Amino acid sequence: MSRPIQALIDLSALEHNLSIVRRHAPRSRVMAVIKADAYGHGLLRAAEALRPADGFAMLEIDAAVRLREAGYRQTILLLEGFFSTEELAWIEQHHLSTVIHHHEQLAMLSAYGPRRRLDVFLKLNTGMNRLGFTLEQFPAVLETLKASHAVGQITLMTHFARADEADGNESVVAQLRCFNAVAAGRNLPRSLANSAAILRYPQTHADWVRPGIMLYGASPFTGRTAAELDLYPAMTVSSRIIATQMLKPGDGVGYGHIFRTDRPMRVGIVAGGYADGYPRHAPAGTPVMVSGRRARLVGRVSMDMLHVDLSEIENAGVGSPVTLWGKGLPVDEVARSAGTIGYELLCALAPRMQIVT
Ligand SMILES: Cc1ncc(COP(=O)(O)O)c(C=O)c1O
Repeated sequence: MSRPIQALIDLSALEHNLSIVRRHAPRSRVMAVIKADAYGHGLLRAAEALRPADGFAMLEIDAAVRLREAGYRQTILLLEGFFSTEELAWIEQHHLSTVIHHHEQLAMLSAYGPRRRLDVFLKLNTGMNRLGFTLEQFPAVLETLKASHAVGQITLMTHFARADEADGNESVVAQLRCFNAVAAGRNLPRSLANSAAILRYPQTHADWVRPGIMLYGASPFTGRTAAELDLYPAMTVSSRIIATQMLKPGDGVGYGHIFRTDRPMRVGIVAGGYADGYPRHAPAGTPVMVSGRRARLVGRVSMDMLHVDLSEIENAGVGSPVTLWGKGLPVDEVARSAGTIGYELLCALAPRMQIVT
């Protein structure tokens, strides 16, 4: 038998979550964000489940080409655009769409003579202050693009900095106001909303929505669970107990003995550690499910193993099933305990993890 840890990808959960996007944004086209290997779920595996999406967005050009070569005919958008003229040739050859967010890209595009026009998403910096042209730069950039023989459809886009935050309303409204002011009268398609904006700000939906995290069944909000949003977890990381130890009061467990018990305690050793993608900094108390019941992590997570307190789960022993996150144990809950977000845990699955569907 091989090492028992694996990530199970539930394709029907991805399909369901896409239907939730459609329910919230019925009049928008959906650009499924599948960057970072579809947030750790596997590019082609996730794309297959998300096939009804109107487009796909990512930033790795080799992944975009793979998707095109796999027969997907929808819009495939590169969220950071291109980094060289050679990549422009790939974009042309594979009918990809590209974000334009910087003058360097504009210069490369203007100097490029494609045989067919390229569809571009012109990115505006409305307050995120990460990528995008300023509102002052925008009119001249738009004129340059419109005049270029290299450019076909132009879509205007921006990205929100605080749509996920409980007190982010003012920020979202300000960004939206900026965007609408420059987009007014241009008669160009628009794209603004990530998962949080799709769920919380219908006025941002426009022509294309760009959901990522909600497709994978995690919540973009700290205060609302995925279940409350009717999202299903698409990834369940499971393992088994491979050993047990009986601790006496005062015994420490694992490296550094950072956890010591003050009573007799049976501890289960789980095949799963930071080399699998489990966060090393997860503290004692982080929830772990054993035999379908909640237990707590104790001691320092090591490269290949972690420890759980089995005091409350008398029947558990070697071979008992363990869920590290997924069905029955939301990734957001584990992430919160580890001081991070579900996004990071999903994307950080290690290459050695066996992924099954
Ligand atoms: C430009 C852009 N649009 C959409 C998304 C999807 O965001 P989320 O996963 O929060 O839905 C991202 C993700 O970071 C992004 O960078």
